[in-house]
Amino acid sequence: MKENDVIIKDVAEILHDRKHLAYVRSFGCQLNVSDGEKIKGLLKRIGYDFTDDEKQADIIILNTCAVRESAEERVFGIIGSMKKLKEENPSLIIGLAGCMTAQAHITEKIKKSYPQIDFVMGTSAINSLPKLLLDCLRGEKFSADTGEYDDFSENTEQVRESKFKASVPIMFGCNNFCTYCIVPYVRGRERSRKPEDIINEVKNLVSKGYKEIMLLGQNVNSYGKDLGNNMTFPELLRETDKIDGDFIIRFMSSHPKDASRELIDTIFSSKKIARHFHLPLQSGSNSVLERMNRRYTIEQYLETVDYMRSYDPDFSLTTDIIVGFPNETDEEFRETLDIIKRIRYDNIYSFIYSRRTGTKASEIADTIPEEVKSRRMRELLEVQRTVSTENYRRFVGRRMRVLVDGISKKRNGYVTGKSDEFIIAEFVGDRSMIGSFVEIEVTDSMNWAVTGRII
Ligand code: 5AD
Ligand code: SF4
Repeated sequence: MKENDVIIKDVAEILHDRKHLAYVRSFGCQLNVSDGEKIKGLLKRIGYDFTDDEKQADIIILNTCAVRESAEERVFGIIGSMKKLKEENPSLIIGLAGCMTAQAHITEKIKKSYPQIDFVMGTSAINSLPKLLLDCLRGEKFSADTGEYDDFSENTEQVRESKFKASVPIMFGCNNFCTYCIVPYVRGRERSRKPEDIINEVKNLVSKGYKEIMLLGQNVNSYGKDLGNNMTFPELLRETDKIDGDFIIRFMSSHPKDASRELIDTIFSSKKIARHFHLPLQSGSNSVLERMNRRYTIEQYLETVDYMRSYDPDFSLTTDIIVGFPNETDEEFRETLDIIKRIRYDNIYSFIYSRRTGTKASEIADTIPEEVKSRRMRELLEVQRTVSTENYRRFVGRRMRVLVDGISKKRNGYVTGKSDEFIIAEFVGDRSMIGSFVEIEVTDSMNWAVTGRII
């Protein structure tokens, strides 16, 4: 029996008196959500059931995000409010996981000022959960494991949120050190999972009826570089594409400097890879890109976009933009707006720059006032609204395949889903369609979705 199995057995024995309930909440990106599903997998092995109500829980785990300050403030607010829960139920165990735990100043603050937290578990220490729990159950006041491990918890089955959409991490960490970004500090260096483990996981998911497989990594284009067996991301995609079954393959995120022609050729020669690409631009100004250490120029980025659009002039692109990077001038910001109009993204995810302790950019004295940043953000959203409204008209009269994922909250009798192009589509339907592909004809468009009818 492996060491962890022994500990799991010990914990299960302590908890055997009744059903214990766990509340796990993940913040931030899909990789973190995927880690949250692994945490749940371990808790399930121990014998826990799950609840969505933290008041009912015997154990609460907050799986945190550190990418922006607002995310951290939110978690501190929640931890503060949990003090009362702990007073009402002293046997309640509260643990902190995820990216916030990898910052020494945060764990110090937790240890010093938040006695309601019983344990802290680092981003690659998920397999230590049984041991941390055992310590708590044996009366330890505070335990922590923030070590860096290479164990990808291959043996722990995730408790997945969805029955038809699955995230599959293919690698962890990032080597890029963009100057604004905390990820390389909290997630460590790039480590790829073995291709056979990934392929087996996807096969297994498809056989269970999963319809969307999202391959995840901070920069999926570097996949395999650390494996030393010539495995590359395009090769992994081709292998995944060969798997039998009715499903769609998506991936996130791609660094533009590594988005190769081979990758684009692979998308267009595949049967199952989505006709959509998320390619984070961050800024449309070469000087800002340089200060961000992004290691591509606008000209190189446009070359990649033009290559994709030489296959398909309507090819769907989305991106991430940071507004208000330290000392971003008006002129530099205008360059971002110009590029957005030139590239015509279907959607952008935009963020006001957030200073992260420990990163290079945090050392720059920033002279741009917050209200200027907010104004730029509003302007950016306005420009994108116009672009999306125009863009989405191209779908009217066309057919789309849509994976139905829920009931529309806005319109009675409608269901909602994502098309292969990653466009939200709404149409008349019912609950029984959730989790299936349907073909629709698009009848109308807005700036955030299209409307259609099932063919
Ligand atoms: N401030 C604002 N946005 C950030 N992102 C990453 N770090 C920061 C930061 N410090 C954004 C980037 C990235 C996305 C996931 O989050 O746009 O692509
Ligand atoms: Fe952060 Fe840049 Fe790595 Fe993305 S590529 S996780 S933005 S350092």
